[in-house]
Amino acid sequence: MADEKRLVLAYSGGLDTSVAIPYLKERTGKDIVAVSLDVGQGGESLDTVHDRALACGAVESYIVDARDEFATEYCMPALAANAMYEGVYPLVSAISRPLITKHLVRAAHQFGADTIAHGCTGKGNDQVRFEVSIMSVDPELKAISPIRDLSLTRDVEIAYAQDHKLPIEQTEKSPYSIDQNVWGRAIETGYLEDPWNAPTKDVYSYTDDPAFPPVEDEVTIEFKQGVPVKIDGRDVTPLQAIEEMNRRAGAQGIGRIDIIEDRLVGIKSRELYEAPGAVALIAAHDELENMTLEREQHRIKRDLDKRWAELVYDAQWYSPAKRSIDAFIKETQRYVSGEIRMTLHGGRAVVTGRRSDSSLYDFNLATYDSGDSFDQHASNGFIEIYGLPSKVAAARDVKFGNGIEVAADKL
Ligand code: ARG
Repeated sequence: MADEKRLVLAYSGGLDTSVAIPYLKERTGKDIVAVSLDVGQGGESLDTVHDRALACGAVESYIVDARDEFATEYCMPALAANAMYEGVYPLVSAISRPLITKHLVRAAHQFGADTIAHGCTGKGNDQVRFEVSIMSVDPELKAISPIRDLSLTRDVEIAYAQDHKLPIEQTEKSPYSIDQNVWGRAIETGYLEDPWNAPTKDVYSYTDDPAFPPVEDEVTIEFKQGVPVKIDGRDVTPLQAIEEMNRRAGAQGIGRIDIIEDRLVGIKSRELYEAPGAVALIAAHDELENMTLEREQHRIKRDLDKRWAELVYDAQWYSPAKRSIDAFIKETQRYVSGEIRMTLHGGRAVVTGRRSDSSLYDFNLATYDSGDSFDQHASNGFIEIYGLPSKVAAARDVKFGNGIEVAADKL
């Protein structure tokens, strides 16, 4: 008799998780509920994935079109935080895991499951993100990882699929491990594991070669409280904004990234990404903040943006620390409204204009022409007092013969 508590499996439709359905059923005696999300990854239709889950023996197949939710609740906070792990990676996979987890837990509650399984290996960040998110959302649930625990090879999986008559399409194995969604695409393994090997053209699919760009593309993005709401005067949802910028910045080869990255599990890995929309939107948003955030608030935000990206990379999406930083970032976005004009061309998104009703840029303070309202005499007293600690310390250095050397023969 089957265990009355079911098991929820994060199901992609691929070989690993298809084999996992009968395997987990045999091993645990539980009925399997397959959960699949559309986060804008493209590829197979979710109807096909749904049917395959059932054909592999799942009792239920739970399908969610989560594209708008992902764009609004996961990509937009990443944009507000200008989130770039190690300065360059816009957290493509890292932000999708907590959303997928939320739906896995929801399905577990709906279908009476006490265990969640995912198909991650034991060497990456994603296993940590799934499991830490699961325990953060529902600490009672158990998480298991059949691929990690069995270290299954592809040949063994195919033989198992044939034995169990699973409807697996025998496609040519891609040499890469790829994870993609509307925020971008991550490509790893294969010959890329030699960090001296340059990427070949076949790894890219969201971007065209920036060396041969079409004519330059000028775009104006309007933001309201940190969220893009119009592109070239047309209303857009967050999802539409990302999709349109993926298309336009992708055509110009913007957002290709090639780095050695520090994983949470301690391994340095070679990673390629392409995130044209994310990179262009972050450049635009960042520049609008330059114009609308007060200096100290902005300095603190830059530090916290970095911490936000590290926490999210490190599987802490649902943590108290990340939640507190979210509250700070949300408050900072109150005046991040206005327009950014950019030129997209040959791999670069360059801001060429900005304007905002809530700008802190004051022409009359900044100008060197007539109309100057800044009292330049006030700088005398400011510099005298601001420089005072340095002046006092320098006098002591001179007294002890440690003054800064300026004699020409010593330089
Ligand atoms: N290294 C990236 C991260 O940890 C991407 C992981 C992508 N996963 C994959 N199976 N290719 O966020």
